[in-house]
Amino acid sequence: MHFLLADKVPDYAWFPTGASNFVPQVDFLFWAITWISAAFFIPIVIAMIYFMWKYRDRPGYRGAPEALHNTPLEITWTVVPTLIVVWIFWEGAVGYLDMTRMPKGTIDIQLEAYQWGWSFKYPNGGETGGKGKDALLCLPVNKDVKLVMRSRDVLHSFYIPSFRAKRDIVPGRYSYIWFRPTKEGIYDLFCTEYCGDNHSEMLGQVKVVSEEEYQKFLEEAVKEDKENPVKWGEQIYNRKGCATCHWARNDGGKIGPSYNGSWGKQVALESGSEVLFDENYVRESILNPQAKKRKGYGAASPMNPYGGLLKDEQIDALIAFIKSLENEVPPAK
Ligand code: CUA
Repeated sequence: MHFLLADKVPDYAWFPTGASNFVPQVDFLFWAITWISAAFFIPIVIAMIYFMWKYRDRPGYRGAPEALHNTPLEITWTVVPTLIVVWIFWEGAVGYLDMTRMPKGTIDIQLEAYQWGWSFKYPNGGETGGKGKDALLCLPVNKDVKLVMRSRDVLHSFYIPSFRAKRDIVPGRYSYIWFRPTKEGIYDLFCTEYCGDNHSEMLGQVKVVSEEEYQKFLEEAVKEDKENPVKWGEQIYNRKGCATCHWARNDGGKIGPSYNGSWGKQVALESGSEVLFDENYVRESILNPQAKKRKGYGAASPMNPYGGLLKDEQIDALIAFIKSLENEVPPAK
């Protein structure tokens, strides 16, 4: 719903196109406050200018007698603004509670924010995300969606202007946000908390599609590219959380050893010995990560064993992926 002249204002001047259930409430209150402010500001300024002129000092002018007290007037200008302010608070509080109270039966999507990108995990295990404009969040239209959000590193803030939805993502705890997209289309996603050098590039796109298209998207998001072992391995690397700690190509965390440029070499171990970085070493490290810890990673938070979480053919694919990074340069640690 638009308030008074609000629908005459072009998109770029105020709010972008509204596309969620919160839009009517938020826009109504925004425009109500704007017009209430205008309704006071304009007459007050006009009266001020008029009185400045009317009571200006001039030859022969002796000034008007001062009005000392006017009970009806004082009651009016106390009660009316108080009622208005309480109403604004009430509307704001109701809107805030609607946003923070999670409805039942939502589609829950796990969100991870990191410097400087997003990862979205859907209920079927499919995953999308990435950096800048590559980060895509796909949502079905007219369904309640809840995001369970966490941060890998620092404080971020999730913001979709078209949904009028915004919530901080605090490291070390889950934060929640919910909304119901009401209009198909592509909308901007921003991080709105300064989170380091590339904060301004922490963007994304939210694509709202029909239920059918959403189901198709979900299938696509879990499909494993088994034809190409290297690509499949990379999918597993991204989807199974390896990327959280291990650096591959030019992306990933730095907590664990990098995948880049290790293949086929003798690598130093925490125990003081060396091991050949080959199929058997990679396989052992996936199934029993603590068996042969790489030198310099003794103090790193231990990796969970992935036996049971990965099938043999998936481990083969991961090995193929790691092998393909043989000549990549590891990140500066
Ligand atoms: Cu993340 Cu700013």
